[in-house]
Amino acid sequence: MSEEKKQFAELKIGDKSIDLPIVIGTENEKAVDISGLRKTTGYVTLDPSFMNTASCYSSITFVDGEKGILRYRGIPIEELVEKCSFTQVAYLLIHGKLANPEERLKFSKLLNQNSLLHEDMRHFFDHFPRGAHPMHILSTMINALAVFYPNVDLLSLDEDIDLSAARLISTVRTMAAFAYKKNIGEPVVYPRHDLNYCANFLNMMFDSPVKPYDIKPEIVKLLNILLILHADHEQNCSTTAVRTIGSAQVNLYATISAGISALSGPLHGGANQAVVEMLDMIVADGGDVKKFVARAKDKNDTFRLMGFGHRVYKTYDPRAKIIKSECHKLLSTMKNKDPLYEVAMELEQVALHDEYFIERNLYPNVDFYTGIVYRALGIPSNMFTVMFALARLPGWIAHWKEMIGHHTKIVRPRQIYIGKVPADYGK
Ligand code: ACO
Repeated sequence: MSEEKKQFAELKIGDKSIDLPIVIGTENEKAVDISGLRKTTGYVTLDPSFMNTASCYSSITFVDGEKGILRYRGIPIEELVEKCSFTQVAYLLIHGKLANPEERLKFSKLLNQNSLLHEDMRHFFDHFPRGAHPMHILSTMINALAVFYPNVDLLSLDEDIDLSAARLISTVRTMAAFAYKKNIGEPVVYPRHDLNYCANFLNMMFDSPVKPYDIKPEIVKLLNILLILHADHEQNCSTTAVRTIGSAQVNLYATISAGISALSGPLHGGANQAVVEMLDMIVADGGDVKKFVARAKDKNDTFRLMGFGHRVYKTYDPRAKIIKSECHKLLSTMKNKDPLYEVAMELEQVALHDEYFIERNLYPNVDFYTGIVYRALGIPSNMFTVMFALARLPGWIAHWKEMIGHHTKIVRPRQIYIGKVPADYGK
């Protein structure tokens, strides 16, 4: 944030004029600071869905939606997916710097030490109805962590955030794999200390007493890439939920559980599952992509192209670019072709050349190809959003930590009341 030359925007209301400070971020993003507006004028600002509101200062992630840039702590994601593991990126997001070898070892030990689920919690899985969506199971289980570890918010942010972060990042991975095993009626597989984060997850998902899982390094690498690309995305819906709920000084686990609930919606993290369901529907209908593009444009039809469009990106989502290329590499090595991939590529081409999508700057987002990759890895579609949640944990924790560190006041927006004026009871 530049403080050098203070600039002001002049606002005129009636015959009164006031100066509002202009704030400029390190990437030259400009904002008018209206925090003192109501006090001096009695006016509030109205911005439903925060289309035009910066809700905080943050130094975690930078997104340029016009140029298609995404950086974590200043480092481009293209470089991070090449050089880092997911847990290194988690450390970077939470601490603001890459871990040195000693810090890396300490963090990885903490991840291992906290990889087991509290044994009493394992029984919770027995009581969810069959077919329960894993995202609902996950948010419930994470909320339950608040009961098992009630004092997390009293820990020192500098020292013990590592412990809380490791517990969340590691345990939630175990929960996700257990939820999956429970869903398919197989015995759960416990985490192993000799495996890294992604290999461990794949092993917990796919190892079975009758068929040991063969851990392939290229699949581990691919999973690392997917998780890194989803690890943070500044003030998106679920992160805003985490910062809002956290501002009431709610326990970290309960706060993250709220983030999971927000992420589960089809307009947010749930889109990866919705994309595959949409592609399935197109294939089942005969594969005419033009028909579905026409439906997406029809204002009388509620159908939308899932995995297309983004509140911030008005160009190709840089994450989607990397995932598309990884998807292509993976699927070209597989014996059985996935008909959904062919349809996805055709759909993308038709939409990208269609006036409706061009005018509105609608491009594939991170979710467009993600589901196809997960499907190829053997992950069922109702687990896709869970994968997103695992990946987003470091981002949520980093934002929670930053929000607490900035001594954020409780989030409490105003409204413009449009209901009845005082009315007599009974009338
Ligand atoms: N298909 C068809 N039309 C679309 C789509 C789409 N996927 N996305 C946006 N539009 C149209 C809207 O109808 C609207 O048209 P109009 O100006 O004629 O009314 C215009 O484009 C602007 O769309 P909004 O909904 O106003 O844009 P907003 O920023 O509110 O929404 C969102 C962004 C929710 C991502 C939207 O593009 C969408 O619903 N996409 C499909 C769901 C999806 O893929 N979500 C994942 C997002 S990425 C993530 O959360 C990880």
